[in-house]
Amino acid sequence: MNLSTYRIDVDRYAKCIEVSKRVRWDIDQDVIRGRNFDFSQKFLPDGISKVNRLEFLGDDEKRLLSQIQGRTYANMFGFVERFITAKVLETTRDHWLGDQTALEALIRFSDEELKHQELFRRIEKMMADGMAEGYKFLPDPDAVAAAVLNNSSWAVLALILEIELFTQEHYKQSIEPEKNLSELYKDIFLFHWKEETTHAMMDELEWPREDSKLSAEERDRAVDELIAMVADVDGILQNQSKADMDYFLKLCSRSFTDDEVQRIKDGVLKAYRWQYIFSGVEHPRFQKLYNELTTEDQRRRVSAALATLN
Ligand SMILES: [Fe+2]
Ligand SMILES: [Fe+2]
Repeated sequence: MNLSTYRIDVDRYAKCIEVSKRVRWDIDQDVIRGRNFDFSQKFLPDGISKVNRLEFLGDDEKRLLSQIQGRTYANMFGFVERFITAKVLETTRDHWLGDQTALEALIRFSDEELKHQELFRRIEKMMADGMAEGYKFLPDPDAVAAAVLNNSSWAVLALILEIELFTQEHYKQSIEPEKNLSELYKDIFLFHWKEETTHAMMDELEWPREDSKLSAEERDRAVDELIAMVADVDGILQNQSKADMDYFLKLCSRSFTDDEVQRIKDGVLKAYRWQYIFSGVEHPRFQKLYNELTTEDQRRRVSAALATLN
């Protein structure tokens, strides 16, 4: 299928606009409401942080590890939203002179991601005020976004869909059902989730639309770009999990055996890989579209690359 024959699904973009208007929220009035984080509670639930696999940690240590991971989790969203906003604004170009419903839906999408970035910047300051000094969030959003945007739109939209699906999955499966979390932390991801539901819907419209422009050779190159970007994401996760665990170990009031230190480091890297890569790639909606848009040989290459991360 080529672009000239590609039909825009106006109804689905219209649905995104309707939902976007209905769920729209304000950072101060709806989300923060003058509250602060409750540091006597966990931030990330065990289903996401996987701290329960580290059975030798005490409750206070598990809570601290959940708060450090939770701080990085919030920062990771603010960070990926830099390239998501840029890419979505770029895709609007194809709709400037065409369907104005699609254009409005995508403009709302980018506006929401700009607001989310502001929310995550705001709460990083609040978390910093309540936690000991020494935490570092390493990746530079602009430098990474510049590198990501050098890739084809096909590869970047695949990465974005993966991210927006795991955002929803984590909230519904783990954050929403968990009772003992900082109330503000939980609410942030409730409100974030509300506006994220339409984003994945639009990714599912834009990725195949982009796909319809490519030749088989261009798509094959895009698959290699996607593989390389996942390797870059993994590099970021390795560095950040190491920084987070150095910070955690410094704050713990007791020492651990070498074997325990290794288990903490390996466990957190494994949790991060699940959080940011596998829980998105394995999502049924990602798999459905990915199977439609790729060949068996391409999927074999992706699987081989992912297998090195386990
Ligand atoms: Fe977002
Ligand atoms: Fe989003």
